[in-house]
Amino acid sequence: MIVPLKIWMLSFIFQIFITKSRCQGFKCKYGERGALTAICENATPSSFRNPEYHFDHLDETLLCLNCTLTELTAGRFDIGGNRIQILNLTNSKIETIEAKTFTGLVFLEKLYLSHNIISKFETEVFYGTRKVKELYLDDALLAPLPDYVFRELRQLRKLILKGNSGLDRLGNLTFFGLIHLQFLDMSWNKLKELNGSVANLENLEVLLLNDNKLQTILPTDFLELSKLVELDLSNNRITVLRLFFPRQNILRYLNLMNNNLTDDVVESYMFQHLTNLETLDLSRNSLTTIPLRLFHLLYNLRELTLSENNITKFAFSSFTGLPSLQSLNLSHNSIKETNFVNGTFQLNHVSKVDFSHNKIKELDEIFLKFRFPLLFLIRLEDNLIPCASRRRLELILKKLYNTVTSIDVDNCPKLDEKEEKDVLLEVNGELNVIAARMRSIDIIKIWFLIVILILVGVLFYIQFFILNRRQPE
Ligand SMILES: *[C@@H]1O[C@H](CO)[C@@H](O)[C@H](O)[C@H]1NC(C)=O
Ligand SMILES: *[C@@H]1O[C@H](CO)[C@@H](O)[C@H](O)[C@H]1NC(C)=O
Ligand SMILES: *[C@@H]1O[C@H](CO)[C@@H](O)[C@H](O)[C@H]1NC(C)=O
Ligand SMILES: *[C@@H]1O[C@H](CO)[C@@H](O)[C@H](O)[C@H]1NC(C)=O
Ligand SMILES: *[C@@H]1O[C@H](CO)[C@@H](O)[C@H](O)[C@H]1NC(C)=O
Ligand SMILES: *[C@@H]1O[C@H](CO)[C@@H](O)[C@H](O)[C@H]1NC(C)=O
Ligand SMILES: *[C@@H]1O[C@H](CO)[C@@H](O)[C@H](O)[C@H]1NC(C)=O
Ligand SMILES: *[C@@H]1O[C@H](CO)[C@@H](O)[C@H](O)[C@H]1NC(C)=O
Repeated sequence: MIVPLKIWMLSFIFQIFITKSRCQGFKCKYGERGALTAICENATPSSFRNPEYHFDHLDETLLCLNCTLTELTAGRFDIGGNRIQILNLTNSKIETIEAKTFTGLVFLEKLYLSHNIISKFETEVFYGTRKVKELYLDDALLAPLPDYVFRELRQLRKLILKGNSGLDRLGNLTFFGLIHLQFLDMSWNKLKELNGSVANLENLEVLLLNDNKLQTILPTDFLELSKLVELDLSNNRITVLRLFFPRQNILRYLNLMNNNLTDDVVESYMFQHLTNLETLDLSRNSLTTIPLRLFHLLYNLRELTLSENNITKFAFSSFTGLPSLQSLNLSHNSIKETNFVNGTFQLNHVSKVDFSHNKIKELDEIFLKFRFPLLFLIRLEDNLIPCASRRRLELILKKLYNTVTSIDVDNCPKLDEKEEKDVLLEVNGELNVIAARMRSIDIIKIWFLIVILILVGVLFYIQFFILNRRQPE
């Protein structure tokens, strides 16, 4: 009789203790009317097993505030009858998450685990949560992810893995199974190499890898990313860039700003398979020359940024293959020489050119107009153009080309009215000469075409004639 009583007493005390600890501030309440949100405060890992609050179909969101969920183990959110679609465990002091922690959340679509301190993340953590479409793990990981960890999440569209001080490596099985993933943010981590991790994410549209420690990009890294539209590799340490995308790729935005790209790495034709590219940023690297045909076949490129390199020469011929170009930024380089004469075509869509902060001494204003007929804005401040030429340039660009010019003229003596008139007359004359020359070239081209057409016609006629003569035989 004594032993059972003792047990009863013990369990009584234990129960008081449990109830007390459970009541130590843990409570859930329904948010504002129509919010469809249950707000739970001061939860510990065991709080959700038998909550006093009854979760029903109106609780689409569960938001944990001031929670201490240090160690999450299997079935912690297995709440009877729940229809939770959004689980927000942001800032909940989570340190370890074991397998099957989220089983029971069969309606879950968005899971927020941001701002935690997770150092142990087991492979089967997401077991039983197949409908999750968005997962937020920013500023959450103190250690790398295990292989196969996302295998269950076949519906996942968006994965945020940003700002994780512990994410310094990936393997080719880390993202295994994410066949529908469209958006992957891995910026601000400590990644040194991609190691085959993202190569097979064939539905990926946006990949953010900026602000890591990447050094080498290999041809296999993006091997099957045929749906990728945006790739951000800025603020890394890339010294080896061997970009390769599938033939039918649709990449439109490529950011390589602030890497360690040098002339040895950036070669002719290296972007030529990126025919859909619209924006290319190569600023803040260490380029000194632009190799010929570097931008070969980039028919759709609209915005090209090459600022903050050490480029010494501007040759228009390097940019002739870019019929859609609208904006060209070459500011903060060491350009001494500009050549607008060589090159085949003109760039009819360029409206903005930035040559500021270079070492340019003179600019061929006539050919500038000819190459960029619709120039709207040109920046030329902080160059070595002499004062008098600056005034002259400003006048020509404004009066004859309708171009807004940013150039320092404040300390330069003004041209008087007669000087202005003379300049405009002279340049207008030269422009007319060039226009006439261009027209005559056009006329020659047309004559050439006519001659070819006549020749083709004659050949056709001869063939036809001979055939007709032969038929009666
Ligand atoms: C947050 O939780 C701790 C213990 O988990 C508790 O002592 C504190 O009062 C809580 N703060 C608020 C604002 O509820
Ligand atoms: C998740 O909860 C945090 C507070 O912990 C809040 O700041 C954040 O906005 C919430 N996120 C969403 C998507 O509701
Ligand atoms: C590269 O991936 C392999 C296999 O996936 C892994 O074993 C290795 O640790 C990874 N290396 C680095 C440096 O990430
Ligand atoms: C993953 O990497 C390992 C070596 O790190 C390699 O043996 C294996 O073939 C790779 N698997 C795939 C699918 O690329
Ligand atoms: C990359 O460039 C940074 C500064 O631009 C420099 O400190 C670093 O040594 C370079 N790294 C390599 C590998 O060239
Ligand atoms: C060109 O790039 C520099 C940064 O390197 C930027 O400050 C400037 O605004 C850009 N120019 C234009 C016209 O966008
Ligand atoms: C740019 O190149 C010149 C030589 O062409 C060199 O003297 C200078 O130090 C370089 N500047 C930078 C920032 O690399
Ligand atoms: C321009 O082309 C001519 C011949 O077509 C060549 O001799 C000259 O070196 C070229 N100039 C530049 C700066 O490329």
